[in-house]
Amino acid sequence: MDFQSLSLPNAPYLATSPPGPVSRGILELQARLESSAISYPRGLPMAIRRGRGATVEDMDGNVYLDFFAGAGVLNLGHANPDVLAAARAQLEDVTHTLDIPTPARISMVEALRKILPQELGKLFFGGPTGSDAVEAAVKLAKYNTKRAPVLAFQGSYHGMTSGALSLCSGAPFKEEFLPLLGEVHFAPFAYCYRCPFGRAPESCSLECAAFVEDLLENPHSGVANPAAVVVEPIQGEGGSVVPKDGFIQRVQEACHRHGVVLIFDEIQAGFCRTGRMFSSEHFGVVPDIMTMSKALGGGGFPISALAFRQELDTWPPGKHIGTFRGNMIAYAAGAAGIRFMLAHDVAGHAARVGEVLLGLLKEVEAESEVVGEARGKGLMLGVEFVEDKATKKPAPDLARKVRSKCHQKGMLIEVGGHYFNVARFLPPLVLTEAQARKGAEIFAEVVKEVEDER
Ligand SMILES: Cc1ncc(COP(=O)(O)O)c(C=O)c1O
Repeated sequence: MDFQSLSLPNAPYLATSPPGPVSRGILELQARLESSAISYPRGLPMAIRRGRGATVEDMDGNVYLDFFAGAGVLNLGHANPDVLAAARAQLEDVTHTLDIPTPARISMVEALRKILPQELGKLFFGGPTGSDAVEAAVKLAKYNTKRAPVLAFQGSYHGMTSGALSLCSGAPFKEEFLPLLGEVHFAPFAYCYRCPFGRAPESCSLECAAFVEDLLENPHSGVANPAAVVVEPIQGEGGSVVPKDGFIQRVQEACHRHGVVLIFDEIQAGFCRTGRMFSSEHFGVVPDIMTMSKALGGGGFPISALAFRQELDTWPPGKHIGTFRGNMIAYAAGAAGIRFMLAHDVAGHAARVGEVLLGLLKEVEAESEVVGEARGKGLMLGVEFVEDKATKKPAPDLARKVRSKCHQKGMLIEVGGHYFNVARFLPPLVLTEAQARKGAEIFAEVVKEVEDER
């Protein structure tokens, strides 16, 4: 299938300088009537009329290349025809049944069974958000181990509900809301560009993994036996950080030695995003519990799930519940989405186009004084901005400026990272190589501009 046919042609196309007058009017209305907590329209000021494939059209007729995909939800692009057909058909049948089974629910279970590791023999659908899946995963680990402490990682993002927020490392997200869950501890992630142990990847011996091992083994580490270790195998919001090979494997081995439940959060990195169905496949590690959401719903339909080892399925009926425990439209759309991923080798496509894009971003890194590192896997890429390459002082203002200038030139990207200084590339995976090349060209132009303006 030619993925270009899924997108609007000739993107980017600018009818007016964004945000145009119609978008501005809608944004003003939103600002007047909605909470000051709204955030994305501040970085990407626009009102969206429609999305197709890897492109988005705003209310003023500007057409953008979408390198954000609604925060990594729209892996199959906007308005994927197979996903929409399944959703439309389901709308006519039944839309809400709690957890009473339907053909749509079973089609999702069957689709997931085709792609999940065999070891994760049980599925659970709780509330519709990723945060809820994280809450459920931690509860399941606590229920089974009868322990409370949880180990998470610096640079992590797991959601905004109190339990999930406790596991997020970002201080700005939680400082006014403390205390949250007690006994959550944070270990350094294998973030080689800023190794907390002062090592270089070529010569390190995975001191970060040894640190986790020590936390679990040393009776005076300060961490009482944890119920769970929660980790994104490839960090998303933390700035597309791919850990050095061996880190995830050693974390798993340490968990197994100490009866700690290993939870992989695949909410952002799953469903072909990194060039494999799940990011943990890069490391050959199967966790005890896996959380899924975002792209699970096929194209923006809210749903989340856990997959876990059969022996953990000890909790009684109703131990984690919610009114929206599954959504029939999302089941039907998501199952169609998984079928599309398999039929069109979306993982392979993401790996190939991602490699081309990363190569081009690496060229920007080589030429620019303010790009510390371009990195990532598949189509989960990031470019880290610094004041200069020698000090590596984080430059979050530059990253924000780049986002804004990219928007002005018809390309949507977001900002993340441990220091909020990483331009994040998270496009729909139906992005074509030509679209990736165009995006890289715009990005390179913008980086040159911000560098010259310093
Ligand atoms: C890795 C990861 N886990 C959990 C979440 C939370 O998902 P939600 O925003 O649907 O609650 C996110 C959201 O960005 C995420 O990236």
